[in-house]
Amino acid sequence: MNHPITYVGMDLGTFKTSVASANGKRSVVPSAVGWPKDHVARAMLGRDVIFGEEIWKQRLALDVVRPFRRGALKYIAGADVGITDDEIVKHKEAARLLVKHAVSTTEPAADGPIYGVIGAPSRATILNKEVIIDAARETFDAVMVVAEPFTIAYGMNRLSNTLVIDIGAGTIDICPMYGTYPKDEDQITLPIGGDSIDEEFHRLMKQSETRAQLSLNMAREIKEKFGFVGDNEEAAIVTLPVAGKPTQIDVSKQLKAACRSIVPAIVEALRELISKFDPEFQSSLLSNVLLGGGGSQLKGLDRLIEEALKPYGGANVTHVYDSVFAGATGALKMAMSMPAEYWQQIAAQAQDSDEDEEQPASVPLRRAA
Ligand SMILES: Nc1ncnc2c1ncn2[C@@H]1O[C@H](COP(=O)(O)OP(=O)(O)OP(=O)(O)O)[C@@H](O)[C@H]1O
Ligand SMILES: [Mg+2]
Repeated sequence: MNHPITYVGMDLGTFKTSVASANGKRSVVPSAVGWPKDHVARAMLGRDVIFGEEIWKQRLALDVVRPFRRGALKYIAGADVGITDDEIVKHKEAARLLVKHAVSTTEPAADGPIYGVIGAPSRATILNKEVIIDAARETFDAVMVVAEPFTIAYGMNRLSNTLVIDIGAGTIDICPMYGTYPKDEDQITLPIGGDSIDEEFHRLMKQSETRAQLSLNMAREIKEKFGFVGDNEEAAIVTLPVAGKPTQIDVSKQLKAACRSIVPAIVEALRELISKFDPEFQSSLLSNVLLGGGGSQLKGLDRLIEEALKPYGGANVTHVYDSVFAGATGALKMAMSMPAEYWQQIAAQAQDSDEDEEQPASVPLRRAA
């Protein structure tokens, strides 16, 4: 009875979840779960739970939960994000269903164990990691939770002399790579990202274009199409309804201001982080800054960060090759490079004990039952 093992890497993001499996399949789904609002919606949709892009198409008929929105569960305690205890239960349920669905899209072998590595924000607490592990419990036989930027660096073989900045929707995670798993105190998670840019853009538009109608979702789409931070980009002219009439509006000023809003915090965090290392290492980190995550696609961001770091001796900033899958493929590579006995050990430990023992801070390893 030699059941095949399936190794899986997962980037369980605030906005999207990408999964890469050792069986060669990979997929990306929105980090959202939709429940039909009532019997009519249930009958129309023909299912109890909806995943994927259909959620956005059918959103009026659904209660949609984005379990990690604003860093909820993964980084910030529920109460601090303004969600009630009941909603936390619902968010956890959504997270569990999301993990299960995302893995199922890669069609793992039916009978064998599933061993996986999942990315979490760099400074996620033990409690946050427990939430991720709980969400994975039903789907994985053993799971390891590691910092999101670390999975990106691992996938690209950039394990030393590199500073990774993962610009996600909910958080920006910064992680220096120096040949071993970086210490918690050397990593930084900023509670800002693509979502906060969308909110800022939306706010600035409401302030300046009072009659134009713009939802947060439209704000995000405009940002993804035109988002820029530099001075030399083309004007961002979009068509928005004004009193029901499609009207062309130049949103460049508001968009640029919103996109730039994340930069000071990134530069300040980099400055703080590199000052902890000796000067020689500081310059080698700064000459290899790697941007990942969806936000790394903001036009001109690399140059603006380089510019802002000039007073610190200059920097060289580059991008990952694939901002959607860099984390998941790195996590998969990591899962596959662990010896099988190691995985079996985690899975066995899990079966032995249900206690929440404290995990090593750098690589919290737990399992699913
Ligand atoms: N071309 C683009 N330009 C600017 N931003 C983009 C672009 N494409 C995607 N994004 C933004 O990137 C963010 C999603 O990035 P990513 O998928 O890395 O986040 P995530 O992993 O789901 O979130 P987190 O890591 O915070 O949990 C969203 O805010 C999205 O709007
Ligand atoms: Mg991410």
